[in-house]
Amino acid sequence: DDAKIGVKGLADSGITTIPRFFVHPPETLPVKSNTTLPDPGVIIPTIDLSGVNSDDLRSTIVQNVARASRELGFFQIINHGIEPDILERVVGAIKVFNEQPAEIKARVYSREMSPGFAFFTNVDLFHSKAANWNDAFFVRLGPTLPELDEIPEVLRNEVVGWSQYTKMLGEVLMELLCEGLGVEKEKLKKMTFLEGMMMVGNYYPYCPQPDRTLGVKSHTDPGALTILLPNHTGRLQVKHGQEWVDVKHVPGALVVNIGDILQILSNDEYKSVEHRVLASSSHEPRVSVAVFFHPSEKESLYGPLPELVLPEKPARFQQFTYTDYNNRWYTKELDGRSLVNYYR
Ligand code: SIN
Ligand code: FE2
Repeated sequence: DDAKIGVKGLADSGITTIPRFFVHPPETLPVKSNTTLPDPGVIIPTIDLSGVNSDDLRSTIVQNVARASRELGFFQIINHGIEPDILERVVGAIKVFNEQPAEIKARVYSREMSPGFAFFTNVDLFHSKAANWNDAFFVRLGPTLPELDEIPEVLRNEVVGWSQYTKMLGEVLMELLCEGLGVEKEKLKKMTFLEGMMMVGNYYPYCPQPDRTLGVKSHTDPGALTILLPNHTGRLQVKHGQEWVDVKHVPGALVVNIGDILQILSNDEYKSVEHRVLASSSHEPRVSVAVFFHPSEKESLYGPLPELVLPEKPARFQQFTYTDYNNRWYTKELDGRSLVNYYR
């Protein structure tokens, strides 16, 4: 039924209870707790990147990035060099795309991730216990962008522009992360993460029963790092010990998090941490776009960098191919746990 494409189609149809396959196991759902948490801004730091190319300021920035990556694996960045109106245009285009009539979205709807551009809901549905309350599109960014006419016109310029900005920023972040580990600055860049970039645009519509489902269930990200641009609605949470901490919206900031591969490459120095997105009964949708930096050489072996394997700190992980990793990620019910422990 075309009129009901995606979760947004379902939300717009006027249902008051969500279909059973969206209902998540109670132990994975948010609970209202009375504990007073520390200020989320303290747990998830905001790092100012201005002066990243100045000799004076760079070492402080490296320290801040390294500390955040070791402690929680999540931080926000400001003064990253991308103008606020560009951020707004990217988020705006994703909103416009999702709010088009169903028959237009149906033209790019796919159950496969293989095309250069695909609109979908819940690609992993058949491997999961419950579906997420969101719609998303996927764009392959590396090694090359898809043909331009594969990308819907309403967001074509924004997708292409965002891929360029995030590639530049990804390079900067990878260098900072290498310096923070004390390894050669170009090390991560040389591992083909810029050639394995992909983009996912998320749209989380109104949900009539937000306490029974999730926008995105708990997971860790597979790649080296993720650069996320959220709109102002919040709802992203990061696991900190036994608690879930809100990622507070900081206007103009981008959210950066470490993925599993980098936890492993860093021999457990940097952390790939569980996060999730709550569903909401607000009529204001959460919109976000994530750019992932995955290895493009999927058959190469990945494991702790030799420089970080020391007599006092032997390798904490076995080597594996990214293909092996990827197959496990998509076919295993992870229940929110990270795959890194599989390779320990
Ligand atoms: C995620 O998929 O990890 C989060 C997406 C979002 O922040 O909306
Ligand atoms: Fe994620």
